Amino acid sequence: MKDQRLSRRRFLQGVGVAGAVASAPGLLSACASGGGPTSGGGGRETLRVGLLVPLSGTYAPLGKDMQQGFQLYLDQHGGSLGGRPVEVVSAETEATPEVGLRAARRLVEEDRVEVVTGVVSSAVAYSVKDYFAGADVPLIISNAGANELNMDPTLPNVFRTSFTNRQPCFALGRWAAQNMAGETFACIAPDYAAGKEDVEGFSDAWGGEIAARIFPPFGTTGDYQPFLSEIRQSAATAVMAFFAGGEAINFVQQYSDFGLKEDLPLIGAGFLTDDGILQEQGNPALGIRTALHYTPLLDNERNQEFVSSYSEAYDATATTYATQSYDAAQLIDVALGNADVEPGDAEAFVAALEQAGTIASPRGEFSLTSDIHDPVQPVYLREVQQVDGELGNAVVEDLGEFQPIPEA
Ligand code: PHB
Repeated sequence: MKDQRLSRRRFLQGVGVAGAVASAPGLLSACASGGGPTSGGGGRETLRVGLLVPLSGTYAPLGKDMQQGFQLYLDQHGGSLGGRPVEVVSAETEATPEVGLRAARRLVEEDRVEVVTGVVSSAVAYSVKDYFAGADVPLIISNAGANELNMDPTLPNVFRTSFTNRQPCFALGRWAAQNMAGETFACIAPDYAAGKEDVEGFSDAWGGEIAARIFPPFGTTGDYQPFLSEIRQSAATAVMAFFAGGEAINFVQQYSDFGLKEDLPLIGAGFLTDDGILQEQGNPALGIRTALHYTPLLDNERNQEFVSSYSEAYDATATTYATQSYDAAQLIDVALGNADVEPGDAEAFVAALEQAGTIASPRGEFSLTSDIHDPVQPVYLREVQQVDGELGNAVVEDLGEFQPIPEA
């Protein structure tokens, strides 16, 4: 057991993860001995934050963006949240339910974190929910869109700074119903919860016939040809897709290589052309229209400041994943800054999160619903265009503000 823990730490250190935010010296050793909170030097006890992220596989780049977004907020705030020095302990989920659940347990029971954030995959989100139902630790999801995450039962300690799978896809479906009414759609997405929920959100709002619903295996599909043939052979005249990370790169390139791009307009959830993968996708991504609550091209001052600080810090374009994780740090900061929460008092921490109010995000201000703690936020129709000599997701239309679970 001890050896396993040591080797995990070595791995985490190797990829610059555990204690990456070690603003307080000696944190790693405190962690390794499984100790409780230590003082950060300024008299306030260190706040340990667990970051559950995939660091390998198709969603690995998303996990890295989430680490960087969280770190950027910390760096801009002297390494503290709510006046407490912070140590971040990252734990690898591999975007699989079993590994994700084990990692969540370790963060809470061995690393003794006071709050957990991160989680890219809906499958992982669903798998850790029951654990957090019985854990005295708040969970702030900063990506996974699992629609029913905080329903049946609703947990007071579960929050989300990202979106629900239904939210952007419903917005897209409604836009398509108004603007692409003559088309027949095929929908394609990976075969797991997020893929299913995205297609359902789109088709509920679209309201018309769907010629084909295609769900390639998640995480193991590299060649989309058989699925592209299926689309070609269907009655579809247009395609709606959700893919992310490495899968989105492959899908968008192969869609073009296969010759479908000229014949069938491709639209999707914004992750399909996320800014972290857009340059690698290259020209095959040009013209793709997607719906999402963020693009680095959003025209507001806070966003411009965020995008330029992010690019300075990481030599990379800010992404939706980075923004959502930046906002998770911000939510913790606001909550602990507004309330008097004793270290280790999970109940008071949860109450403070609940009362945090509006978050001044790079996406614009947003707040969480009082029941399921999900963002109410505008969704934008974006189009991949050449912007200042680079591909970018330009805002084409503000589709309006959406509830987490919009009704058809
Ligand atoms: C999810 O599994 O909920 C998920 C994963 C990647 C994304 C969006 C949603 O880009």
